[in-house]
Amino acid sequence: MPDLRIGSATDGSEARGPWLVLTHGGAASPSAYSDGCVTAAEAAARLAEGGDALAAALEATRLLEDDERFNAGTGSNLRLDGMTAQMDAAVMTSDARFGAVGCIEGVRNPVLVAARVMETPHLMLVGEGATAFARRLGFVAYDVVTERARSKFVRAMAELEGKGDGVYAEDAAPWLDGKVAALWNFAGEKHCDTVGAVVRDAAGNFAATASTGGTVYMLRGRVGDSPILGCGLFAGPEGAVACTGVGEEIARRVLAKTVYDWLAAGVSPNEAGARAVAMFPHEVDIGLLIAGRTGHAVVANRDMAKGFLLG
Ligand code: GLY
Repeated sequence: MPDLRIGSATDGSEARGPWLVLTHGGAASPSAYSDGCVTAAEAAARLAEGGDALAAALEATRLLEDDERFNAGTGSNLRLDGMTAQMDAAVMTSDARFGAVGCIEGVRNPVLVAARVMETPHLMLVGEGATAFARRLGFVAYDVVTERARSKFVRAMAELEGKGDGVYAEDAAPWLDGKVAALWNFAGEKHCDTVGAVVRDAAGNFAATASTGGTVYMLRGRVGDSPILGCGLFAGPEGAVACTGVGEEIARRVLAKTVYDWLAAGVSPNEAGARAVAMFPHEVDIGLLIAGRTGHAVVANRDMAKGFLLG
């Protein structure tokens, strides 16, 4: 059985309410950081109550990106070169509007750029094109790299060198035995989690967001689940789902759409969350926010910072 943890703030998962905001700070983010998720949910509550699920989800995620304790926006993980921060973010609404950015660099709030992609005929912009798009729309250059992220990188590198404290041992395993050098794709010679929100507004609209600095060990150009429609997030008339955890594992299971389909088939959010976590071996970090028409659930197989407000 997976170690299934259901947030204490959401124990009444079948509770009805006209509006709902759920936020998370990433699977394996310490629950001691839940104050940041609660602050983000509180800021979004007025917008959810006013019937604007999209604005509410964006506002919550913007604040989580600005909280440097979380691996999204400011404080995003560094890639294997120890210098590059490339971020993924996406937003989806229950009327199937979707916008995403992959591997965007040098912007403070990737989720706000993702929202602007919804104004284009496209679903996703990546890399330099995404960054240039942001600049064109007036998103100024911003350095998201923090001392905290640098320290995390040093710790992660120590693990690769056999001198680590074991915290990143599972993440490091696929990169041992010279893999980093063999696969190196950065210019020059020479390193999980995510934030997200789901909202059901007072008018019954849903929105989901995801934003991330990626996993601990990443090549240049690596894109995770967060900006991929149906993998890191999904929203429709029956609900909204946002995922956090190891992106490659989430994407292989098309997790957000799979969970949404269960909701649409009448499965309760609580049951859907339990089924979702059970799809993963315990060594894979996984967490979900799930909002249905009449219920909600927050589930993770790790400790996870989270916030919750219900009107
Ligand atoms: N879930 C975030 C990532 O794998 O990039």
